[in-house]
Amino acid sequence: MLHTTVMHLIGQTPVMSIDVPNRNARMVLKIEKNNPGGSMKDRMARSMVVAALQDGRLAPGGTIVESSSGNTGAGLALAALEFGLRFIAVVDHHAAPDKIRMMHVLGAEIRYVEGDHREDEVAVVERVRLAAQLAAQLPGALFMNQADNPANPEGYAGLVDELLAQLPDGIDAFVGCVGSGGSMTGIAQRLKRHSPVVRTIAVEPAGSTIFGNPGHPYYQSGTGMPTGTQAGKVLDYGCIDEGVQVTDAQAFETARYIARRKGLLVGGSTGGAIYKALEFIASGKLTGTVVTIVIDGGEKYLRTVFDDDWMAKRFLLDPAIAAQLDGWLA
Ligand SMILES: Cc1ncc(COP(=O)(O)O)c(C=O)c1O
Repeated sequence: MLHTTVMHLIGQTPVMSIDVPNRNARMVLKIEKNNPGGSMKDRMARSMVVAALQDGRLAPGGTIVESSSGNTGAGLALAALEFGLRFIAVVDHHAAPDKIRMMHVLGAEIRYVEGDHREDEVAVVERVRLAAQLAAQLPGALFMNQADNPANPEGYAGLVDELLAQLPDGIDAFVGCVGSGGSMTGIAQRLKRHSPVVRTIAVEPAGSTIFGNPGHPYYQSGTGMPTGTQAGKVLDYGCIDEGVQVTDAQAFETARYIARRKGLLVGGSTGGAIYKALEFIASGKLTGTVVTIVIDGGEKYLRTVFDDDWMAKRFLLDPAIAAQLDGWLA
């Protein structure tokens, strides 16, 4: 089939299986980095823009404004191009530099929040405040507000349909990251509706406050909720069986390990989900087909997670984690 727009390239992403020996389990990765904006978030970005155009909150030629760590922004930049809209991305210095460059290259206008923030501190509160303020000031502008926007979880309907078709023998568990909660909610609710016995595990960075733990800064990008933020309306705790935490070192060392051993470049938050999925499998808490998402690619983190000096300076290198992964996969 010949596609005529980039938006038609969203979806129909492949799956890849990693067998876990002696555990009666396999981990299946849904390779969402293959979407044109490089992440699963192309799906929800398109969904939010289409919904706003359909119900009249956004008119042709209007402006969309969103706070983003980069992936939602790349998806919104593509949607803005498709529908002839202006897009303003509100960002902070926590985002990977290449993600911001990518939004810019795709035509987004970039606005940084002001103020001094630690390098490992995400300025979500300030980002959201500035995005809402810009949208209120500009005629014809709409703040997409992914954390409260029902079209965010709705955007993952197609992903679940694809998974069910790709895995006809069934899905036993889903392990996913949680930031806005849109993907977790959209995927977990649908999987449980299809089969109520599917186990759902939500992974947040250590330092994130989604599951009531004390907050502290972390380097994982795009995922979790830093101190001072409230869970968005889209996050349905009811569809999550267990919420767990992963450290930056575990997440990033796993991403580096998967690159070295499997030849697949995955981003830092995906590394965290893979680490937890394998830990649950190794401990016998999950069996059968355990699905996780390659949310984005390691290509977006070559100057951070995949840079030895960057990792060393932040004390994030830990060879014991690779040894642990070897033990689980050997
Ligand atoms: C790299 C990465 N990981 C995890 C997430 C969290 O996804 P969600 O907002 O659907 O919870 C995001 C969201 O932007 C992301 O970009």
